[in-house]
Amino acid sequence: MNATSQEQNQPTAEKILEQGIIKAGSQNIAMACSFSVEDLIVIDLLRKHASDVKFFALDTGRLHEETYEVAEALLQKYQLAIEWYLPQTEALQNLEREKGLFSFRENVGNRLECCHIRKVEPLSRALKGRAGWITGQRRAQSATRVELAGIEVDAAHGGIIKINPLIDWSDAQVWAYATEHRLPFNQLHEQGYPSIGCAPCTRAIKPGEGIRAGRWWWENPENKECGLHRR
Ligand code: ADX
Ligand code: SF4
Repeated sequence: MNATSQEQNQPTAEKILEQGIIKAGSQNIAMACSFSVEDLIVIDLLRKHASDVKFFALDTGRLHEETYEVAEALLQKYQLAIEWYLPQTEALQNLEREKGLFSFRENVGNRLECCHIRKVEPLSRALKGRAGWITGQRRAQSATRVELAGIEVDAAHGGIIKINPLIDWSDAQVWAYATEHRLPFNQLHEQGYPSIGCAPCTRAIKPGEGIRAGRWWWENPENKECGLHRR
């Protein structure tokens, strides 16, 4: 890890956060937590600056146990109050009764339907009335994210401000920060999972594969988004 590049990127991330929060009007802004190492860095930066940003997480019902363990560790470390959002009971009940528990394996349409019920619709509730939201996305994560901006107007969610403070961070920079600041992290990251979503739709990557190769690995790379980050 090149220490200088981390030193350059941390202030940039802080500046993006600061400017994004001001642009959103400083009130009613929330951070979306999937408990990835990236999200833990953003949470750590936010806590250091004592901002009154809220934190929410989408519990799809299919997350790994390791992910819930990180949420619990954060509660201990920062007394972090997390607003959990769950899928609508009736929509989920109908999906499971009509199509079973693994319909997402059958085709992209079914996969997007499951993502819509378990993630996208709950996200729309989590963002209701918000002026802005913060994510841990990075450009280096995939071909679908190369055009990310640090501060965006999120047309998919009513034109609220979307803040992506880590856009330019490399893998090495992420891990250097997490190590230096002794952040708790998802144990799956040590088992070959650089990107972690729902358990049945995430696998470890093989040597030489891209960061998100283990997400929906049976689909083409251009489909590897669940709809949370429509642009
Ligand atoms: S995804 O769209 O493919 O699932 P990814 O796992 O790369 O997204 O995470 C990108 C960002 O989306 C995270 O840094 C986080 O801000 C947000 N996010 C993803 N999954 C969740 C979740 N279950 N709950 C809250 N935020 C999430
Ligand atoms: Fe369903 Fe898989 Fe999408 Fe999770 S990632 S919501 S299990 S299709």
